Amino acid sequence: MKFNGLMLLSALFALAFAISCGGDDKDQDGDVTTVAMTPEKAKEIAMSTYNTLCVTCHSESYRSAQVAANQPVPADFEDPAFWARADVTDDYLRKIISEGGIAVGKSPLMTGAPGLKGEANLPALNALIEHLRSLKKAE
Ligand code: HEC
Repeated sequence: MKFNGLMLLSALFALAFAISCGGDDKDQDGDVTTVAMTPEKAKEIAMSTYNTLCVTCHSESYRSAQVAANQPVPADFEDPAFWARADVTDDYLRKIISEGGIAVGKSPLMTGAPGLKGEANLPALNALIEHLRSLKKAE
């Protein structure tokens, strides 16, 4: 079987939805209620999202290989120049990560983490952004 970019993308989308769907729980009546996420849980979801999903494209090996020919190179979170960009704000990061590159006019290959969309997942999304910022190397 030939493993092509499209299959990689579909697999990543499936993965993105599979992880971090936390937040919902059943109460005694069996109704689904939203349970507030603890900071520990948010951090746990952020780290597992980063380590299983984001690194598949945003790691050293993938950056040099690129996700696909003629496509932009995935951002280097260790590079101070990335963080120095005026447009890289928390709002921007929340949008591109939860809605993907298309939402901000970037490459559709930037799939992000659709599983982190929505109010209930905001603590995990913010924890993920905090982790990305912590990767920045000293200049
Ligand atoms: C399938 C590959 C892929 C995955 C998975 C992926 N990205 Fe990306 N990402 C890209 C590519 C390609 C770009 C470059 C997009 C561009 O410049 O048009 C990018 C760019 C970005 C940018 C910078 C956008 C800019 O304005 O320069 C951020 C931030 C980002 N990704 C965060 C993430 C996070 C966080 C995750 C994990 C939830 C993630 N990405 C998962 C491929 C991916």
